[in-house]
Amino acid sequence: MSYGLLKGKKGIIFGALNEQSIAWKVAEKCHQEGAEFILSNAPIAIRMGELNGLAEKCNAEVIGADATSIEDLEKLFDAAIAKFGKIDFILHSIGMSVNVRKGKHYTALNYDWLEKGWDVSAVSFHKVMRVAYEKDVMNDWGSILGLSYIAAQRTFPDYNDMADNKAYLESIARTFGYFFAEKNKVRVNTISQSPTMTTAGSGVKGFDAFFNYADDISPLGNATAEECADYCVMMFSDLTKKVTMQNLYHDGGFSNTGVSQKVMEKYQK
Ligand code: NAI
Repeated sequence: MSYGLLKGKKGIIFGALNEQSIAWKVAEKCHQEGAEFILSNAPIAIRMGELNGLAEKCNAEVIGADATSIEDLEKLFDAAIAKFGKIDFILHSIGMSVNVRKGKHYTALNYDWLEKGWDVSAVSFHKVMRVAYEKDVMNDWGSILGLSYIAAQRTFPDYNDMADNKAYLESIARTFGYFFAEKNKVRVNTISQSPTMTTAGSGVKGFDAFFNYADDISPLGNATAEECADYCVMMFSDLTKKVTMQNLYHDGGFSNTGVSQKVMEKYQK
């Protein structure tokens, strides 16, 4: 069902890699709700070719940008200005840890890899907003979102240095959110999403157990990528104009549950 919540709105969606990606689902829903947007991803991800199918379906242009490169981002935002004038929303759905990929233990992190992952997963959010801010590309009452995970607040050992990256990402949302609100009433938030079966998600060691545990703890069960996309649409719509500088849990109640009956029963056996 579509409500026309984003009719006339323009945006940029970063991070759709394949059909499992959260950003992919966000793009589909934003299209259904009447938005026009550019799809962006790292050039290497675009070369994999899957994004073209989504672009066709959503009538969107694909523009490559390494989100850690100010030069690439400047070119992307210039293209957005040429196409749309100003824009109303940005989704940053980007994450990668080299230490996670290469199975390096948290207590023995490789710091070059840490810096790379930090730049891709957290600082790139600052870079995206910095370029948008300096180019004055956001319409008043626009909305910018990043995606986070509860490992920013609580320890999940195998989430490794991504936990620290997410804490940094959430902090950037608060601080930049202040300045963007002052500049032209743009809101900046992160959505803290349940474990989700995607390329980035399943790269975490023991992801299946992780996923099932969260599902058993959460009274409403894990939130899916589609449900996350619904939440993003609401955050891009005019129905959430005064929500800013928040980390918003979208996790079926996980973050506020100590233990659930389902988990208790497993221990009572
Ligand atoms: P995904 O693997 O589909 O998306 C990650 C995206 O980051 C990919 O499209 C990848 O190409 C892009 N990317 C990596 N390096 C880049 C760079 N240098 N420049 C531009 N783009 C780059 O996985 P998913 O799960 O959809 O991830 C999206 C966001 O959601 C990430 O921030 C992730 O940490 C977050 N998240 C994911 C959860 C999960 O369990 N899957 C849970 C909570 C948050």
